[in-house]
Amino acid sequence: MCGIFGIINDNNNQAATSVLEGLKKLEYRGYDSWGISIISETEIKIDKHIGKIGEAKTNLPVGLIALGHTRWATHGGVTDNNAHPHLDCTKKIAVIHNGIVENYQGIKEDLLKKGHQFISETDTEVIAHLIEEKSKLKKINEAIFETFKLLRGSNAIAVLDFKTQTIIACRNGSPLVVGLGNNQYFLASDVPAFLKETNKVYFLNDGEAVVLSNSGVKLFDIETEKEKKLIPQVLDWKLEDAEKGGYPHFLIKEIYEQIKTISKTTSINEKEISELARKINSGYKIVLTGCGTASYCALAARYFFAQQGVDAQAIPSYEFMPFSKFIDKKTLVFAISQSGETADTLIAVKEAKKRGAEIVAVINARGSTLERLADIVLSVGAGPEIAVVSTKAFTTQLSTLYLLTTAVANKYEEGKNKINRLGKVLTKWLDVQSINRLISLAKRLMDEEHMYLIGKHLNYPATLEFALKIKETSYIHAEPFAAGELKHGVITLIQKGTPCFVLASNDEIKEEVLSSAAEIKARGGLIIGVAPFESSDFDVLIKTPDLGDLTIFPNIIVGQLLGYYLGVGRGADPDKPRNLAKSVTVK
Ligand code: G6P
Repeated sequence: MCGIFGIINDNNNQAATSVLEGLKKLEYRGYDSWGISIISETEIKIDKHIGKIGEAKTNLPVGLIALGHTRWATHGGVTDNNAHPHLDCTKKIAVIHNGIVENYQGIKEDLLKKGHQFISETDTEVIAHLIEEKSKLKKINEAIFETFKLLRGSNAIAVLDFKTQTIIACRNGSPLVVGLGNNQYFLASDVPAFLKETNKVYFLNDGEAVVLSNSGVKLFDIETEKEKKLIPQVLDWKLEDAEKGGYPHFLIKEIYEQIKTISKTTSINEKEISELARKINSGYKIVLTGCGTASYCALAARYFFAQQGVDAQAIPSYEFMPFSKFIDKKTLVFAISQSGETADTLIAVKEAKKRGAEIVAVINARGSTLERLADIVLSVGAGPEIAVVSTKAFTTQLSTLYLLTTAVANKYEEGKNKINRLGKVLTKWLDVQSINRLISLAKRLMDEEHMYLIGKHLNYPATLEFALKIKETSYIHAEPFAAGELKHGVITLIQKGTPCFVLASNDEIKEEVLSSAAEIKARGGLIIGVAPFESSDFDVLIKTPDLGDLTIFPNIIVGQLLGYYLGVGRGADPDKPRNLAKSVTVK
């Protein structure tokens, strides 16, 4: 939610342009408006606009130091004035912000009494004026730390200070990372913004602040205001990971990357998986949680655990509280998250921790809050996922958890072979012919406004994820049901020609699913099978490879691809669907 990017010592003295380019890489974090501030010779200059950055250019003057933001509105509508950065009255302090200042009303009233003038409706603007007020008596660092301590809620702020020519940032809850380049220093909410320049990074912890200046980066503890030692780490991410690499969109690039990322899960986390398998076999309870796509991963993993005779609960993080009383010291809570920053997931994890549970983070992005809260980390290694819609993070999270379920049943080697085979089969299956078939289906369905999906057992969470991809990317209403639910009301929705996807595997329940398909067909529904077998009940078949219980992977990938082609065909931006943010860091 909201992207932050700042540069000190831009190599080409074009800091505003460099910040704009970096913000384009962070646009997935928020894209209703954007803005940049730069230190010019006499003052701070600002350029703010509503809408996506897209191909935008900035007319800001040259300079070495700039700070910018992409916004996902929380307080105040989407207007130029509400876009960040926000200035103080003297126009010497510019502030950008990720989060919500819960107590901003009270602070604003005090500042108004003192004569401060506000031009936006945002909670963020109070931060600039409060820092201005405090800096009348104190050094800028102290003024910022004191201000930050007064803000309630989960926040990250970054301040551009004209007087000291520095960028100062504080973190509590929302992510911030520093990049240490060759005489250039960067501050961002995510690594892709500066990966072109450096992979030497430091992820800030809650309660930490950084001061970026001409001479380097200093780390501080906000509470004590004392300097701390900054120990950077070097990431193994490559520049290509954060570029489109010849693809028209990140989403399609990331869908194809699954060919490699899924198999890669067999060569990582071995130690953690064997430790977890031991714990589970010694009687630990299992609770799986997450939001959005990650919650469907939790549900699919629950079915995989059940296959191996292990009971696991799957609870969406935003519905966690009523069930938290059943959590104790002998519970393993698997928190599944691409970003590791989703507020609802973090709230559930903190509650589980209070109750003594051990936390297992199943995450993709590194250095996140969730990673820090976890006792055991299963890092799924999909690399940066830039498209808002999650694809490769989901399939790597699910294959990692699948491997764990096989380890629990003492079949880890068999599990690894199956996942490796899945990777190979996907490579062959995703050929030009399959893609052309999907594109023609997308063309046929382009003008539909409603679609329904059914699946049973493992294919039930698969329909949930498939439908989410269609909804997120193409804005078509796609409603998933467990096949068994159909005759209990849902069937009233079927009319002549209504598209109905039937997700199935070549298993012992396929006949039951086909009977449900026949019931829809008898009411005139257009039956689109997504399965590894043919059937007279299917009007159209998207044939997926027969991979036993892993067939749900290609079945879901059909949904990812169809969502993508429908989205492109309907003129939506597949990388940045309307109203969504990649990581939802507010409740
Ligand atoms: C947002 C995104 C979803 C994502 C969910 C959970 O709602 O739009 O695509 O699945 O957050 O994100 P996480 O980073 O926790 O996996």
